[in-house]
Order: sequence, then structure tokens, then C-alpha cells
Amino acid sequence: MKALAATGDRTLVRFADTPEPTAAADAVIIRVEAYSVNRGEILAMTGAYGTPTAPGTVMGQDVVGRVITAAADGSGPAVGTRVVGHAEGGGWAERVAVPTAALAELPDTVTATTAAALPLAGLTALRLLRHVEAPAGKQALITGASGGVGHYLVELATAAGISVTVLAASPERGARLAELGAAAVVHDVADADGPFDVIFESVGGDVLAAALARIAPGGTVLWFGQASLQPIRLSFFEYLTVSPFTLRHFPHWVADTTDAEDLRVLVDLTATGRLHPELGRVADWAETASVLTDLNNRRIRGNAVLTIDA
Ligand SMILES: NC(=O)c1ccc[n+]([C@@H]2O[C@H](COP(=O)([O-])OP(=O)(O)OC[C@H]3O[C@@H](n4cnc5c(N)ncnc54)[C@H](OP(=O)(O)O)[C@@H]3O)[C@@H](O)[C@H]2O)c1
Repeated sequence: MKALAATGDRTLVRFADTPEPTAAADAVIIRVEAYSVNRGEILAMTGAYGTPTAPGTVMGQDVVGRVITAAADGSGPAVGTRVVGHAEGGGWAERVAVPTAALAELPDTVTATTAAALPLAGLTALRLLRHVEAPAGKQALITGASGGVGHYLVELATAAGISVTVLAASPERGARLAELGAAAVVHDVADADGPFDVIFESVGGDVLAAALARIAPGGTVLWFGQASLQPIRLSFFEYLTVSPFTLRHFPHWVADTTDAEDLRVLVDLTATGRLHPELGRVADWAETASVLTDLNNRRIRGNAVLTIDA
């Protein structure tokens, strides 16, 4: 079957002939209709996490499709059911295995392209917000807000009663975030008012240090990424007046809930019009490499979704 595998160079991925997926007893096999791509996959392929992904590795995880083989242990949905989930062993392929603990069924009202934007970005936003105690009335700053995670975070945080200030590169990128509920849009942290009870930080470089100058005493930073690739540098002495604050490292995969449980929450919010996946780009999967390049170069707002014709 056809799949997209890492090339190990700046072309990122190319089509390869790969074996059909095999599923563990607690996994289904689906025919993939759409998948999304995430910055994390680019970081893995380009070696930002350490060793770059080995050439030939099938990439990807966020998938939507129809079950063609049910789980042998009876734990998952029947053949023919539409699902969204986190694939095992690479998701940018015609057919993939998805553990039943990492999928949710889709109602007919949620399209494949919309649902494909949900898994990684949506789970990250949902789980980040669970670290905010008593959110109603809090002031928050979201950096990197115009990306996949950021759009979800803005809408979910606003719905929870948080007053959100967003950092985005341009007014055009901020406009949709304002529609989703952001109270203020800034293009430089220096222009953000604060003080902020919570800072959601994913850009790195000088951004965190600048944001911390606006944190409320006792505030919390949820530190979940480094899109700029630049490490942060902090001076203890500069933050004595807002001390003590909490700097919390956030990996989305450390959670008390399963992906299946949280995907059900995201699908339900979407189906009932309370969450609006922001599809900044939808293209045929043959264009995956150029879409990844655009995502890497900040040319895509929200999520990027690729589709596979049956
Ligand atoms: N900890 C976890 O479990 C977890 C899970 C998912 C994602 N992440 C991380 O969270 C971050 C956001 O993920 P995402 O999928 O939303 O990524 P994304 O769609 O690429 O969004 C990242 C945003 O960061 C902004 N940005 C500012 N400076 C940048 C720079 N120098 N280079 C690139 N982007 C820059 C861009 O917005 P502007 O151009 O408008 O500034 C961009 O929209 C990424 O760093 C990702 O690796 C972490």
C-alpha cells in the first residue's frame, strides 16, 4: 500500500510502498480518509528532539477513516464505523492500525477533514486547560496562538470564562482569534497588558522571559513548546517582584484520561457547535511535503489537513 515515509533530508517525506498494517488484539484497522500534520512531526523529522526520524519511517498520527477490520478483542467499533484517532505505526498511509483506547466514533455531521484536525492539537489544548484551577475570571496570555493548538486553546479558554490575550504575528492572524473570543490581540509581548494569572507558552527564545515580566504574583506558566527552536534564558533576579510563580512543563501524553475519552469530548464539542476546528489548509495528500514546508515556515494558520481519495 502507499504511505508517506520520512526522507531524512529537507524534502521531509515521499511516497513509499509499505506492508499492510497489522493490528494488536485491541486495535482496529481503518481506511484513512484524512489526516492532519503537526509541527511536532516536523520537529521529529528535522532532529529538534535529538536524532532525526530514520529515513523510511512512516510518519503521522492524527487520522480519520472507516473501520475495515474490527478489534479482535471486541473492544472497539464495528466494521464500517467512522472514527477519528491516533494511529499506531504511522498515520500518513492508505490503511492504518488504531488502538481502541485512542479513537472516538464520529457522527455523520462531523466531516472527515474537520475531525482530522482534532487529535493532537485538540487533546493538547483540552489537557492544558485542565491545569488551570478555577478558570472563570482569570487573565491569560497565549503565545503562538495562531497555530493548531492555539485556536483550540483560545476558544476553550474563553468558554471557561478566562479573559484571553493572544500573541500572533499579524492582525490578519489575530482576527479569527478575536472571533473565537480573544479579548486582546498583540504582535509583541511588550504590548500585552497583564498581569496574567496564566501564561500558555510555546514559542521559546525571548518570548517567555518577556511574558514573565507580565505574570501576576502566584501565577502559572504552562510551558508546552518551543516553535522558534530557540531555548529560553531566564534570570532569577528579574522576577523577584512576581515571585513565587510556577513554571510547569507540559507533555500532553501525561494525562489521567485516555485519548479515546478526550477525543469523545472534542468530537462532542465540535458536533454541538462549541468547538470550531480552524482548517487553515486542506489539500490532497500528494501535497503533504509542501504543506509541511509551509507549516514549518509559519505560512499556515490553524490546522493543516490532507485528504486521501477512496
Ligand atoms: N507539549 C506537548 O505535548 C505539545 C503538544 C502539541 C504541540 N506542542 C508544541 O506546541 C507548539 C504549538 O503547536 P502547533 O501544532 O499549534 O504548532 P503551529 O500550528 O505550527 O503553531 C505554532 C505557532 O507559533 C508561532 N510562532 C511564533 N514564533 C515562531 C517561530 N519562530 N517559528 C515558528 N512558529 C512561531 C506561529 O504563529 P505566528 O506566525 O502568528 O507567530 C505559529 O502559528 C509547537 O511548538 C509544538 O511543538 C507541544
